[in-house]
Amino acid sequence: MTETLLDIANLHVRFGATTAVAGACLHVSKGEAVGLVGESGSGKSATILAALRLHPPNARISATHLTLGGHDVLTLPQPALRRLRGRFAAMIFQDPLTALNPLLTIGTQIAEVLTRHRALSPADARRQAAALLTQVGITDPARRLAQYPHEFSGGMRQRAMIAAALAGDPALLIADEPTTALDVTVQAELVRLIAGLQRQRGMGLLWVTHDLALMAGIVDRVVVMYAGRVMESGPVAALYANPRHPYTIALLESLPRLDQGRGRVLAGGPPDLTRPTSGCVFAPRCSARMPRCMQAPPMFAAGDSHVACWLAAPAGAEVAA
Ligand SMILES: Nc1ncnc2c1ncn2[C@@H]1O[C@H](COP(=O)(O)OP(=O)(O)OP(=O)(O)O)[C@@H](O)[C@H]1O
Ligand SMILES: [Mg+2]
Repeated sequence: MTETLLDIANLHVRFGATTAVAGACLHVSKGEAVGLVGESGSGKSATILAALRLHPPNARISATHLTLGGHDVLTLPQPALRRLRGRFAAMIFQDPLTALNPLLTIGTQIAEVLTRHRALSPADARRQAAALLTQVGITDPARRLAQYPHEFSGGMRQRAMIAAALAGDPALLIADEPTTALDVTVQAELVRLIAGLQRQRGMGLLWVTHDLALMAGIVDRVVVMYAGRVMESGPVAALYANPRHPYTIALLESLPRLDQGRGRVLAGGPPDLTRPTSGCVFAPRCSARMPRCMQAPPMFAAGDSHVACWLAAPAGAEVAA
């Protein structure tokens, strides 16, 4: 049996009248790397923040099932939840300055995570902090530990944040677009770094991005979100070679290609999330729309993938009356 680290079923996240996430399901197993993709506003961040109960105070969340390491995230008391964060599941963000305190040295911040859960002497904490900096590719760690975040470049700050995230030795690392603000070379280095650390440590990884191309070499499985719903999920190779959902196909076609230059842009815009939708939420933009899309499709199993589209319905599946 594979151990499930994160298990989300039928998650809803609402901000007032806006339904940011509407019934999303997602799971990550031990040692597995999962990519969560979708265009801006599709509910990726809302989903993962809810998974750690780090959602903004104006968000209302509900789920049929929401567990981290088998613990019910929605009902867990705060102290237990805090222990779970950092030690079981750690998060890295797009902007490291949201995670790093500008007033404390990098060394103090990593040592703080190290000593939060374990009794370590200050000297041991320092040694381990230096070892973590080395692991994330920061040279001269002794000098670097004494510096403040503003003395680090953008890419170095990301590395320091990764080191702080690893300090709790988490089973699951959740990364919310950790490379989008960086230039391409630094981006590629960080992607390689995180992928390498994930494999070495056997961590689960949930990698959130709107960049499908970036995902390809990193993840085992991809979950595609649109307007707060999961449209398709499946093994990365199957998803790229044989995408089933018209939205996934459109996303792949929108990627720039060497032979064709810029990719094809999907016409139309995402739906108004303040309005209740009936039927398939992607239908208004879908080139394969059919009459039965007036009814929202369930998730159909298709090979190793799951697809929320009537096109993936087994022969004979009918719209329920
Ligand atoms: N604090 C908030 N208050 C009100 N609405 C919010 C808040 N945070 C997110 N939303 C809304 O929820 C929806 C989903 O947002 P979310 O941040 O999850 O998208 P995303 O997929 O992470 O996008 P991006 O790729 O731009 O990061 C959007 O319509 C957004 O405007
Ligand atoms: Mg986001």
